[in-house]
Amino acid sequence: MSASVSPQALHRRWRVQACARVLLFALPWSAVAMLAAVRAPGQALAWMALATSLVIAAAGFIRAWRLHDVRWLASTLNTHPQLDDSAELLLGVEPPASSMARLQRQRLLARWPLLDTATIQPKPRIAPRLWNLLAALACAAVVATWQRPLPEPLRRYLPPAIAQALGVQTPSITGISIAIDPPGYTGLPSRVVDSADLRVAEASRVRWSLQFSVAPAKAWLEFDNGPRIALQARDGRWQAEHRIERAGLYRIVAEPALPLAQRRLHRIEMVRDQPPQVRATQPGQSLNLRSAGQRDWPLAFEATDDHGVATSAELRIIQTNGDGENITSSERVVPLNGSGPPRKRRFTYVFDLARSGLTVGNDVIVQLSVRDNRQPRAQVVRSASVILRWPPDTIGMATGLDGLAQQVLPAYFRSQRQIIIDAEALIRDKRKFSADVFAKRSDAIGVDQHALRLRYGQFLGEEAAETRPLPTSDAEVAGSDTSAAHADEHAGANDPEDGATPGSRVEEMLAEVSHVHDLPEAATLLDPQTQGLLRRALREMWDSETQLRLGQPQAALPFAYKALRLIKQVQQADRIYLPKIGSELPPIDMARRLTGKRDGLAARSDAFVRVPGEPSPLEALWLALGPDRDAVPVQERMLDEASRHLRARGGDDDAALATLAAIDALRADQGCGECRAGLRQRLWRLLPTARATPTPRPLPTRVGTVELRNPVLTASGTAGHGAELAPYIDLAGLGAVVTKSVHADPWPGNPAPRVHQAVAGMLNAVGLQGPGVAAWLAHDLPPLLDAGATVVASIWGRSIDDYRRAADLLADAPAGVVAVEVNLSCPNVEDRAGMFAHSDDATESAMSVTAGCGRPRWAKLSPNAGDLLPIVDAAVRGGAEAVTLVNTVMGMAIDPVTRRYQLGNGGGGLSGPAIHPVAVRAVHDVAAARPDVPIVGVGGVTDATTAAELLVAGASAVQVGTATFADPRAPGRVAADLVDWCRRHGVGDVGELIGAIHGTRS
Ligand SMILES: Cc1cc2nc3c(=O)[nH]c(=O)nc-3n(C[C@H](O)[C@H](O)[C@H](O)COP(=O)(O)O)c2cc1C
Repeated sequence: MSASVSPQALHRRWRVQACARVLLFALPWSAVAMLAAVRAPGQALAWMALATSLVIAAAGFIRAWRLHDVRWLASTLNTHPQLDDSAELLLGVEPPASSMARLQRQRLLARWPLLDTATIQPKPRIAPRLWNLLAALACAAVVATWQRPLPEPLRRYLPPAIAQALGVQTPSITGISIAIDPPGYTGLPSRVVDSADLRVAEASRVRWSLQFSVAPAKAWLEFDNGPRIALQARDGRWQAEHRIERAGLYRIVAEPALPLAQRRLHRIEMVRDQPPQVRATQPGQSLNLRSAGQRDWPLAFEATDDHGVATSAELRIIQTNGDGENITSSERVVPLNGSGPPRKRRFTYVFDLARSGLTVGNDVIVQLSVRDNRQPRAQVVRSASVILRWPPDTIGMATGLDGLAQQVLPAYFRSQRQIIIDAEALIRDKRKFSADVFAKRSDAIGVDQHALRLRYGQFLGEEAAETRPLPTSDAEVAGSDTSAAHADEHAGANDPEDGATPGSRVEEMLAEVSHVHDLPEAATLLDPQTQGLLRRALREMWDSETQLRLGQPQAALPFAYKALRLIKQVQQADRIYLPKIGSELPPIDMARRLTGKRDGLAARSDAFVRVPGEPSPLEALWLALGPDRDAVPVQERMLDEASRHLRARGGDDDAALATLAAIDALRADQGCGECRAGLRQRLWRLLPTARATPTPRPLPTRVGTVELRNPVLTASGTAGHGAELAPYIDLAGLGAVVTKSVHADPWPGNPAPRVHQAVAGMLNAVGLQGPGVAAWLAHDLPPLLDAGATVVASIWGRSIDDYRRAADLLADAPAGVVAVEVNLSCPNVEDRAGMFAHSDDATESAMSVTAGCGRPRWAKLSPNAGDLLPIVDAAVRGGAEAVTLVNTVMGMAIDPVTRRYQLGNGGGGLSGPAIHPVAVRAVHDVAAARPDVPIVGVGGVTDATTAAELLVAGASAVQVGTATFADPRAPGRVAADLVDWCRRHGVGDVGELIGAIHGTRS
């Protein structure tokens, strides 16, 4: 080789080669030492050997480096004849001092490129190195055949394949036997399984017994939720024991590591001990009314449990006495012994009505508490309440019909009258009493007045005292200290004798049994106008109370009288939102009835579910495992997040545990296609089901020439004269608001009571009370139009002239009044024989005089007419563009005890679910006979189904009436539900429904 590199570069190259040769000699021995360190019994020595060999190798390297310096190179080069023994000059070891030396250096430099250095390069000797290597390998082979387990941490993490290659035998599980002993009280048998995935009863004792191919150095069970339980070697098997208190995941771990497939997570599903179930089998319903002559009340309960019900149970009996503001309650607990097998016990008791002292208006409420046999702590469960009520004579409730309407406003005014009577008697007898006693008696009546005021206050959903403005100039200041007033309410006023007034005691009792302050929803029981009246009554009561408590009954009387008058007006209200109509029972938990507890009740907001913007960790992982991403390994972060999310779901969720195990399997082997598919499948089951998001679809409709937003309207007389329902529903969203029928002149209506609860509806005899058309136009209509409502004005009359005048007055009504409904179910004073709607002539005449209103007219007809067809023909002849079918059905209710009519007017009109079939029939028959006449159907519409039924019968639109007394939001709800109903039943256009029973009618 010619010296094409510089002498310095040549030096570097030869020097490195020389050092490498030294290392090549030493390192095989270091490797042998290392292997020995790994496997030698005296490891400390082996580690020292390794360290020494490495030190020797390093020292050899350094020495070789030093030896092969520039002088070594010069002497090596000088062996070449061409360099004239003066290579030092070339390498700069001896700087040329003389001109001769410089000349010689130039000569060497000129020769250098032509120099063949290969001839003088030191040659490595192969043989000793080869021998050295062979000797080292032989030693390594000897060391490697020593049978010793690998040490930590190598042992643990060394993949079994490498371990095997190194000749190390790793353990694998060759046998699993797990004994499961459920707790003794369950009566379940012990069993042995051969799978590491377990399903065990709560608190079972589990004993693992495992067999390994090679004894591991150590083995243990590693639980996902905490403990690490060592497996102990005994008789060739590895054993551990653990009591299972919760579901979870665990892994069998051994040193050296088990094969990958055996390192997976195993599931422990736990079957919880279910609490017992208890129900009353006799009586079969929760609310029961005492029947005449009933002396005892037999009760039977059935309690079931997965493992066993304790033989003893406790019957809690609460008895309420008195009514109105004088309710008291007593409670006792009766121990009962059950009969029958442990898993299904029967408990019976006979309540002795005679001995209990139960009287009219009282309730007995019973609940059975049973225990199961769970250990160490039994689970106690209380049945729903079963109630026996001794109905007061005045209650208009149908026997045995749970949840049906109740008298919403009890007749408390008798009490207000009583206060007046007492106050007047006190004034009369004033002379008989000392001033002190007089003041005390007056104060006592004041306490009664206080209690009565609070009783009425609950119907406003508020505490009456707080509505009273303070008698100071800061009365209007927002945030004034109502809490002080509140505290005062609860404490009662100061009592000179015992520090607690009768009032405070009464209030405590009321709070206990009826929870007077907790009734904000009661506010919806009264219409706004009635609420206003009641509020005024409460203020008068407050003044009356103040005077009475100051010992001035004389001064209290005017207020007390005024309160009585106002309460009477409240009683005359023609709108009271009844809590329930119809026979569909509400899901009432009677156990709460007297507790006042509201916990666990669904909040309104519960109905709304947030639509997640981001996919959840589970969804993200599911997407990442999609078939289109087959080859892409899932990020660890994603697996972590999904695991965290699943753990947060709670340890007992079997599906979550199985998914956690599947995540773990994938984490261990990202390339495992089966694991990917399995995990994806499990995740899918955990993803929230997609919520159907029906897009509300308008259901535009038409009645004759009148275009409506949708086919659901309010029924006349049930939505007030104006925007009465606006606080509850969006009136603009309805097809139209049909207002209460107004007469041309103001009209006082019928005497109270005006409404009465019937079994499946209500009776009313409001008597068409109203302000007259002019006042209606001025006061009631504007707020209704402001609320965005489409208005159909309803008019009525007692003579043909009344109808004419009422219609004429509407001529200038705003355009928002799109039609006029002429209520013909009215007595015709000119024809003593009956109603307008019962006579075709009267119907035609009344209709024809209403043309002056200048807008489409609908004739509202009565089902009491018998044959409706001639009446419909007459109405059309009179100019009706459509007919509204039907008005109320004539009805009556009598109190057999008092032998009086339930309604002030005697008879009344029946409405609600009871008359729905009557309405369907009327609409059906008229639609069949007069397909050309548009019909608005009304009668017992409470939901989308009843609305759709009327449409199918032939109505173009429907009205919702009595249902608003149970739920003022009913018309809006029916309209919204009808959209959904159409979607669910594949109805694309509401027109498809109209008259469908006859073949579609438009
Ligand atoms: C309290 C009450 C007042 C009513 N007032 C009127 C009225 O002023 N004009 C009228 O045409 N119908 C009146 N009706 C009858 C309703 O408009 C409707 O025709 C009847 O109640 C049947 O429908 P429903 O079962 O949905 O309530 C009244 C009904 C009730 C319950």
